[in-house]
Amino acid sequence: MRESKLKPSGSATLTYENKKYDFPVYSGTEGPNVIDIRKLYGEVDVFTYDPGFTSTASCESDITFIDGDKGILLYRGYSIDQLAEHSSFLEVCYLLLHGNLPNKKEMADFDRAITMHTMVHDQLSAFYRGFRRDAHPMAIMCGVVGALSSFYHDSTDINDPRQREIASHRLIAKMPTIAAMAYKYSVGQPFVYPLNSLGYTENFMRMTFSVPAEEYKINPILAKALDTIFILHADHEQNASTSTVRLAGSSGANPFACIAAGIACLWGPAHGGANEAALKMLEEIGTVDRIPEFIKRAKDPNDNFRLMGFGHRVYKNYDPRAKAMQVQCHNVLKEVGHENDELLKVAMELERIALQDDYFVSKKLYPNIDFYSGITLRALGFPVSMFTALFALARTVGWIAQWKEMIEDPHQKIGRPRQIYTGAAQRDYIPISKR
Ligand code: SDX
Repeated sequence: MRESKLKPSGSATLTYENKKYDFPVYSGTEGPNVIDIRKLYGEVDVFTYDPGFTSTASCESDITFIDGDKGILLYRGYSIDQLAEHSSFLEVCYLLLHGNLPNKKEMADFDRAITMHTMVHDQLSAFYRGFRRDAHPMAIMCGVVGALSSFYHDSTDINDPRQREIASHRLIAKMPTIAAMAYKYSVGQPFVYPLNSLGYTENFMRMTFSVPAEEYKINPILAKALDTIFILHADHEQNASTSTVRLAGSSGANPFACIAAGIACLWGPAHGGANEAALKMLEEIGTVDRIPEFIKRAKDPNDNFRLMGFGHRVYKNYDPRAKAMQVQCHNVLKEVGHENDELLKVAMELERIALQDDYFVSKKLYPNIDFYSGITLRALGFPVSMFTALFALARTVGWIAQWKEMIEDPHQKIGRPRQIYTGAAQRDYIPISKR
């Protein structure tokens, strides 16, 4: 079980209705202190009010740290730019799950454990047949991942550490297979089984792009770029979909159902769906000369248009992942011979103009991870509809690591926020004959 590492750091006093109440303050390794208000309602008979949880720490975590003002992202203390440059996605999976970088034996054992779970139960393919061929891959991922719990009754007891570990390995290993099958189903091609001789990301690319009619040749530059993109998407503190997974898990729901809930939340265009929405926005803008028209719309309070791939709840500086994504974008476009991609020109000019415009500067709106990922994934050969499914594939390890941390936290309890009620006061029923 996980021991708390909160460090007492004084107290905060609330004065309410001429009475003073003291609440303990704790500090962590980095970042803002917290005021522990768990006893607020019991002692003061009031709730805090924080729609969107902009000022609320929902948990204590060792996994990921973000400094939104400085544009810093750390996985278990390692900076995202160092991991993107030196690590692999599977090594980052080990790091997020276990807390430290693996030695050679640990990495080999983990690699084998994941590899041994890449196939899915053959009956799972029947679920795909129930979808229309033009079903959005995220609809398929929600359904199929939720259905996994019906196949693995031996790894749904969340109180058994070994079952938690097997479920974690199964989810990390099977997401590429499930995502590739969603793509194959959408294009009417046969499902391709995983090959144990390939690495994690190479295996995914082969299951997605190879056809039985010919040998599939893996491009190591493109495979490395996609592997790095998966690293950039692996975890991100208590974002909306991770909070969804934690809340679902807090009721004791099995890990497969919790990850299906996370997939559903990630699908939204304000969250993981932004990579698909950002590419569609760039395609709608089309050429550099139309950028001012869209900047004007983004600034118009009466127009709900937003620059997709811009802004972030936490980053009030450049999203460090967007910088790393831009590097991968140029690597991929160069490798596939699209250095002069028109959409890249539009994206870079849009970024240049926005970052000089007082509206975006004053609101601290910078490109986020989704701004360049769409151009990169399209150049890798993925259809726009697959972009968020790829985000879900990569984020599964973060969701699972956060879910495990919550289950192993002795202080965790079912998440159950309250509200402030502003509806009708109690009133008596009136028969319809008198209404
Ligand atoms: C992800 O949380 C995470 O960590 C998420 C994520 C992860 O890895 O899990 O990083 C992944 O979801 C990245 C974000 C992807 N979403 C988009 O790119 C969609 C476009 N961005 C916006 O919808 C928005 O910026 C959010 C949702 C990302 C953040 O919204 P907030 O923090 O609630 O900020 P807000 O909506 O209150 O905006 C503050 C102001 C508002 O203006 P005012 O009401 O103050 O006048 O900035 C404006 C907004 O209108 N604004 C934008 C804008 N984003 C915010 N204006 C134009 N274009 C935008 N993109």
